[in-house]
Amino acid sequence: MPLDLYARVSRVIPPIEWATMAEDAAAIIELKKQRRAVILAHNYQTPEIFHGVADIVGDSLALAREAATADADVILVAGVHFMAETAKLMNPGKIVLIPDALAGCSLAESITAADVALLRQKYPGRPVVAYVNTSAEVKAASDICCTSGNAKKVVESLGVPEVIMLPDEFLALNVAKETDVKIIAWKGHCEVHELFTPAEIHDLRARHPGVVILAHPECPPEVVEVADFSGSTAVMADFVRTQKPARVALITECSMSDNIAQGSPETEFVRPCNLCPHMKRITLKNIRRALENMETEVLIPEALFEPARRSVERMLAVK
Ligand code: 13P
Ligand code: SF4
Repeated sequence: MPLDLYARVSRVIPPIEWATMAEDAAAIIELKKQRRAVILAHNYQTPEIFHGVADIVGDSLALAREAATADADVILVAGVHFMAETAKLMNPGKIVLIPDALAGCSLAESITAADVALLRQKYPGRPVVAYVNTSAEVKAASDICCTSGNAKKVVESLGVPEVIMLPDEFLALNVAKETDVKIIAWKGHCEVHELFTPAEIHDLRARHPGVVILAHPECPPEVVEVADFSGSTAVMADFVRTQKPARVALITECSMSDNIAQGSPETEFVRPCNLCPHMKRITLKNIRRALENMETEVLIPEALFEPARRSVERMLAVK
């Protein structure tokens, strides 16, 4: 095996590093067959997971969609906890595993269902659009979900002049610039994307002439403003694959560039990136352990299940 498998990551993982990974990767591939399991991996997972063992990769929207149609008994989510909860909401009858239940998200942790209730009191009649980066409890307290890939569409699909959009203040401000719908935002931030600054972008342009700069919409609006293009992680990946820029900087989590670089030899990746400590809790070793021991199973309290699922389904129905 490992030689074939290594070919999938050879541009971004040196052979000496791969030597420490090959056994776990081979064991995971075997365990997936035994358990009838599929691995859903977010674009921020490291290349040995993303290219080496995952069956389905993508942004939060793609993972939510694919979770809904996965043909397997077990879904292992190589990502953070809210993604595993979303997978469970779409698959009540399947076992959903996350290799490290502490893989959280600063956005999901920034708001509770009680906060949503207070917002509804303060702004009566406004629908609540919850970013998928929220707990099942917050999804259950909301009207519809969105991701960075469909936020504008979701907001406009509601046909109202004003909505509450939570918890990401920056995503809300970035979407507000593109729509006539008024947006009431919350004060949550992604701890990875909030660190980027316009000065960093100007500096990149000065040091890397011709660089095309793509910023994730979780970045502060003043960063998105000075970038060339903004979109979800899947939109960024498509941009690089189709436009084949000579030089690109992805203003987002570090593994994004590694994962795309493997398939884009013609593009030079300038790498000003920030690591997501939550995404990085997932490793080949704990994926292997999770499939061996069938842990940690993601469960959602019964009272939250239907209302949370409804919010995700409404989002998936928006075309
Ligand atoms: P997308 O992959 O949906 O763009 O989301 C980014 C993110 O931060 C997920 O945690
Ligand atoms: Fe959450 Fe930001 Fe990490 Fe995504 S990158 S999981 S939004 S903390």
